Amino acid sequence: MLKDDILQILMRSRAGYISGADLARTMGVSRTAVWKHIRALESEGYRITAVPSKGYRIAEVPDTILVSEVAQGLPTRTIGREIRSYPELASTNTLAMELAQKGAVDGAVVISETQSSGRGRLGRSWLSPRGNLYLSAVLRPAVPTHKAPLITLMGAVAVASSIRKQLGLPAGIKWPNDIMISGKKVSGLLTEMSAEPDRIRHIVLGIGVNVNMDLKKLPPAVRTLSTTLAVEAGRTVDRTRFLRDLLIELDHWYACFVNRETDVLRAWETLNVTLGRRVAVSGAGTTLEGAASGIDAEGRLVLLLDDGTSRHVAAGDVTMLKR
Ligand code: BTN
Repeated sequence: MLKDDILQILMRSRAGYISGADLARTMGVSRTAVWKHIRALESEGYRITAVPSKGYRIAEVPDTILVSEVAQGLPTRTIGREIRSYPELASTNTLAMELAQKGAVDGAVVISETQSSGRGRLGRSWLSPRGNLYLSAVLRPAVPTHKAPLITLMGAVAVASSIRKQLGLPAGIKWPNDIMISGKKVSGLLTEMSAEPDRIRHIVLGIGVNVNMDLKKLPPAVRTLSTTLAVEAGRTVDRTRFLRDLLIELDHWYACFVNRETDVLRAWETLNVTLGRRVAVSGAGTTLEGAASGIDAEGRLVLLLDDGTSRHVAAGDVTMLKR
């Protein structure tokens, strides 16, 4: 799109001015057309300085996720082949499920700046103030239905690895899919599926990452257990760049999952902070206590109980107990 091309040129030369005549010549359009696109960029939140004898210069980039920059030359095979972004949605997972039903492609991504009814695991809500990342990917892996739970582990590996690579922060995974930094939750994943007994129709992998939000927006009980990338990194994190690199990482691990899921399990084991710990797992009205000794081929937590028996737990909330 012409507007995106103009944006790219202006972003590349942020230190100086580019004349309207030069932009018009490069794009092969009139100066009035250039001006119209500049106005459109301004309405998206860019502050653009225009000086008569010099031209245009970007003075300020909006604090929104710039989807055109995420999509521009995105080197992924599947994830992000289509990206839809919204200022506000009820839930990116809900919309992604609807789009999947209508035939959205494998790897289609939905993002939103905020969610009014964000959903978490085990029927909880996921508070979604501005400044974070809320995304859902439509996936259509050609794998048997029983392997679907591993998608969540795959997503957790991608998020934790991406945080480590991009920001050098010690992100780890608490079973099944909480991303933790220094004992606090920074990201959560919610996977939803539509399947027949022997075939996955589609899966929606929803990812929420606390990036720059003000933690005071969370109720005190949740706040003490949560952190943000900005808090951990000690600076504001560029969400556009973070999302772009996250999609690239997700693409890599999605291909691993489809081709050889044991690689995903090994990576999950390397990044996890649960195994080898004494834990309490609560869910469905009961709490089990024991040693988290491993995960099985379907991603269930293997819990060694005090009576010497073991249980394979498919869902629940893990609390780490004292060592
Ligand atoms: C959890 O830890 O409970 C999972 C939280 C998942 C939140 C994400 S935000 C994007 C996507 N849309 C939703 O409504 N939920 C997921």
